[in-house]
Amino acid sequence: MSLPETMRAVEISRPGAPDVLRPCTVPVPVPGYGQILIRIAYAGVNRPDALQRAGAYAPPPGASPLPGLEAAGTVAAVGPGVARWTVGDEVCALLPGGGYAEYAVTPAGHALPIPEGLGLREAACLPETCFTVWSNVVLRGGLRAGERFLVHGGSSGIGTTAIQMAAALGARVFATAGSEEKCAACRDLGAERAINYREEDFVAVLKAEGGADLILDMVGGNYLPRNVKALATEGRLVQIAFLEGTRIELNFAEVMMRRLTITGSTLRPQSDLAKDRYARDLETHVWPMVVRGALRPVMDSEFPLEEAAQAHARMEGSSHVGKIVLKV
Ligand SMILES: NC(=O)c1ccc[n+]([C@@H]2O[C@H](COP(=O)([O-])OP(=O)(O)OC[C@H]3O[C@@H](n4cnc5c(N)ncnc54)[C@H](OP(=O)(O)O)[C@@H]3O)[C@@H](O)[C@H]2O)c1
Repeated sequence: MSLPETMRAVEISRPGAPDVLRPCTVPVPVPGYGQILIRIAYAGVNRPDALQRAGAYAPPPGASPLPGLEAAGTVAAVGPGVARWTVGDEVCALLPGGGYAEYAVTPAGHALPIPEGLGLREAACLPETCFTVWSNVVLRGGLRAGERFLVHGGSSGIGTTAIQMAAALGARVFATAGSEEKCAACRDLGAERAINYREEDFVAVLKAEGGADLILDMVGGNYLPRNVKALATEGRLVQIAFLEGTRIELNFAEVMMRRLTITGSTLRPQSDLAKDRYARDLETHVWPMVVRGALRPVMDSEFPLEEAAQAHARMEGSSHVGKIVLKV
């Protein structure tokens, strides 16, 4: 396959609102040792892309400055030391950055085959949420069958994945969301109870059930003390973002008295080796869920690559349910 020297992409022209995302032409990246070059068909849009665009989430050293953490497409070139993939293979992959472009490089171990029965468009929306939910809900949070699991932001890309994965693992799933329509979507995906947080108190709902064994939270702020109250004895809280802020007063005596665990993580700065391990776990444990239809990306909308600014505006308007994708 002969490769062009330059490609279409979308760059962050300066930190700011969605309209700072601008189409541009940049050199096609070259895969280094252990890396593959992917010709991107579709790129997933994620909330961390909006944080990066706003100047609040810098790419890790060595990563492309272009936004875009996941994509699906065709392997266009392989670097030295890559055994698993060959040119022409269809893959979806977690990217260190650079997904809003015609081509991107990523470590070969961060790519996965397209699950049987899925197209490239849907597969592009799997990596970021599946890596995040698997590593935080299963590995860090230790979710077990029969446990009560609460996810906030149930209609988000992360939330729709978490509901389905937890239900497939045999957990009892509770979700919060900001409208009746979003709550209905959460129930359709397998939540036994969806809580419209504008009308109902999630703490009361969970306490009536005996408390949550595990909470996955992206809201933070005043949700922190409320999450602590909603946890059952020995419950775990896993924090993956702080949409409402990182600082709050919290009575840690409750953590001690009920033997709670508060933890959290962010995916992007973790080592390539850690992400390789998550990818192999996903292939073994989660791709079979996708193939049998127990976990499907919930597709909200598609925008052409050049309209990435409109895609971000839709995401930040928060009327979406599930994933937004860019067609390259
Ligand atoms: N730690 C990690 O490694 C990692 C990786 C990926 C994503 N994340 C984080 O996970 C979260 C979800 O990501 P995503 O890509 O799935 O985003 P998304 O689809 O845009 O979801 C965000 C959702 O959160 C809900 N929400 C609740 N309180 C909110 C508030 N104060 N401001 C804005 N939204 C609020 C919104 O729905 P309602 O109508 O219900 O409010 C919205 O749909 C983001 O915060 C992201 O940064 C973390």
